[in-house]
Amino acid sequence: MNTSTLQPRQSRARHINWGIIAPGRIAGKFAQDLLLASGARLHAVASRSLEKAAAFAERYSAPHAFGSYEALLDCPDLDVVYIASPHAFHCEHALLCLERGIAVLCEKPLAMNAGQVEKMIATARRKNTFLMEAMWTRFFPLMKQTIELVKSGAIGDLRTIRADFGFHSKDTPDGRTFSKALGGGSILDVGIYPVFLTLILMGKPEKITVHATHTATGVDESCSMTLHYAGNRMAQLYSSVVTQTAVEAWIYGTKGRIHLPSRFHHPKQLTYGDYYSAETTFHHPYPGNGYQFEIEEVMSCLRQDKKESEKMPLALSLELMEVLDEIVRLAGVTYE
Ligand SMILES: NC(=O)c1ccc[n+]([C@@H]2O[C@H](COP(=O)([O-])OP(=O)(O)OC[C@H]3O[C@@H](n4cnc5c(N)ncnc54)[C@H](OP(=O)(O)O)[C@@H]3O)[C@@H](O)[C@H]2O)c1
Repeated sequence: MNTSTLQPRQSRARHINWGIIAPGRIAGKFAQDLLLASGARLHAVASRSLEKAAAFAERYSAPHAFGSYEALLDCPDLDVVYIASPHAFHCEHALLCLERGIAVLCEKPLAMNAGQVEKMIATARRKNTFLMEAMWTRFFPLMKQTIELVKSGAIGDLRTIRADFGFHSKDTPDGRTFSKALGGGSILDVGIYPVFLTLILMGKPEKITVHATHTATGVDESCSMTLHYAGNRMAQLYSSVVTQTAVEAWIYGTKGRIHLPSRFHHPKQLTYGDYYSAETTFHHPYPGNGYQFEIEEVMSCLRQDKKESEKMPLALSLELMEVLDEIVRLAGVTYE
């Protein structure tokens, strides 16, 4: 083998060039954490406004800025695009990239409904292109430990999960959290986290019951969800965009419990033990916002030419969306 065939592979292993579509609030935090991921480079930014894209690119030292999402697709040397638009546009923006064979990391929820998720998965497979939902919770070291503790039987047989995610949104009625057209409401925005935790620990529920209150804009303001399972198991979950709640998760088994204190969806601490002896606490501090773990996973997949992540497979994203679809339906919310 001559050296000219080795060189491109070596340089690809060193750097992954990221593009960002829709540089809003979360995209800024994501760009900060790209700096913490070894080999990640912010290569290009696309906004509906060239001025905004240029300012974001300058702030994070990206060499390319574009005034439309479509223009980004022609950017040379792009390895993967992170999509950070409101939920209602995830499917459309992901398909733009996938149809051009560009790898995608798309913010949660992957789309507005399971039909859209199926279309995205089919397109990724047809174009043989990487796609992953940016469910960052899955990639924290303490989340891995939680899954292992439950699987090992450390708390006995899993019986109950209690988890909540409520925050006080300062958005205006036409802002992302309240606007129906943008996919607003607590279930898709933050309820997704307790539902995801339950799904990875208990699987898909047999039955779901829901009580929701609604905003004047017609989306769910707060939502109480119970996921029912065979074998005396259940999960009691809560989400809100008006009340600031603890954002904790308690995982109870027949012998003991696990506690992920606030904010459980990007954990830095885990306490577990059986009901009758001293508990053990693990700390796992990390720098930055915590997006580096999902960034590392994407880059590891791309370097191995994988088309999806084994930790956050597309089948899991589809299952998550199907459960959310049902919760949204039971909450009496309909999106256009
Ligand atoms: N993983 C996490 O921790 C986390 C946290 C927060 C949010 N999120 C997810 O990230 C996504 C974006 O949330 P965000 O809080 O960053 O939202 P945001 O601040 O409102 O930013 C969204 C961006 O989308 C673009 N956009 C395109 N069409 C739009 C439209 N019709 N109306 C408004 N904006 C439009 C805008 O960028 P340009 O105009 O510049 O193109 C805007 O800056 C959501 O799906 C949310 O679920 C994830």
